[in-house]
Amino acid sequence: MNFFRLFERKKMSCPVATPAKGKATAKGGAPKAPEPRNKEPVKETALSLPTPPPPPPRRLSEDERRIVCESWRALQDDITRVGVILFVRLFETHPECKDSFFQFRDIEDVQRLRLSKQLRSHGLRVMSLIEKTVARLDQDAVLEQLIFELGRKHYKYNAPPKYYEFVGAEFISAVKPVLGDRWTQDVDDAWQALFKYITTNMERGFREEESGFVLGKVAGGDSVGNKHGSAVDEAAHAAAKINADADAQDTAN
Ligand code: HEM
Repeated sequence: MNFFRLFERKKMSCPVATPAKGKATAKGGAPKAPEPRNKEPVKETALSLPTPPPPPPRRLSEDERRIVCESWRALQDDITRVGVILFVRLFETHPECKDSFFQFRDIEDVQRLRLSKQLRSHGLRVMSLIEKTVARLDQDAVLEQLIFELGRKHYKYNAPPKYYEFVGAEFISAVKPVLGDRWTQDVDDAWQALFKYITTNMERGFREEESGFVLGKVAGGDSVGNKHGSAVDEAAHAAAKINADADAQDTAN
C-alpha cells in the first residue's frame, strides 16, 4: 500500500457553498465487538475511573468553513510532508505519545523515526481524516459520527485524549510556514476551531468506549442507537462507507 499516492490522486472539492444542515448528536451507531487494545497501557487510562465525555463541540461558522476550505486547498501539495513533520515534532515534544505505537516506541533517533513506516502511515491517516473533515463540513451528522468512531478506535489503540490537542498545535506550526503571509489571525482561528471540533468529538468517542456504555447498553437490550433514531443510524452507515471507500482506494494503490 502506497500511502503517499492517497494524496497525489485527487484534489478535493469544497462543500462550503452548501448551507449547513440541521444538527444531529452523534453518540450512537451500531456498536462493534471490541478489538484487542495495545498491550502496554498508557498511564492515563490504566487505573483511572472513566471520565465523563465533554459536551459536544460547536460547529464551525460559515466563515470558518470557507477559510478552512480555502487554506486546505493551498496546502494540498504539502500534506504528506506535513503529516510526517507533525508527528516527528509531536514525539520530540511529547515522547510519551510514542508508547501507543508499538513498532517505533523504542526508536530514539529522529532520522530513524522519520523513516518509520508506521509513523508515516499514521501521519498520513491523520491528514486523510482532516481531508475527509474539510470535504464534509456541511454534513454535520456524518462528520460527527465519523470522528466519534475514530475516538472509539483510539481507546483500543490506547491513545488517550490528553494528547490530541498537541496534534492540532503541531499541525498549525507545521503549516504556518507553508502559507506564509496568507496565514492570518482569521485562518489561525478557523483551524483552531476545526481541531477543537475534531479532538472534542474524538474524546467523546474515546470516553464512551472507555466507560463501556455502549456495550453495556447492548448487553441490556437498550442500545444507544434506539435513543437517536434513524438520522444517527444513517450517519453511522455513511461514516462506515466513507472509511470503507478510503480503505478500498488504499488497497487499489
Ligand atoms: C487529532 C488527533 C488524531 C487524529 C485525527 C488521528 C487519526 C487517526 C486515524 C485516522 C487512524 C486510523 C484509524 C483506523 O484504524 O481506521 C489512527 C490510528 C492510530 N492512532 Fe491516531 N489520530 C490522532 C491522534 C493520535 C495520538 C495523539 C496518538 C498517540 C498518542 C494516536 C495513536 C494512534 C494509533 C496507535 C493508531 C493505530 C495504528 C496506526 O494507525 O498506526 N493517534 N489515528
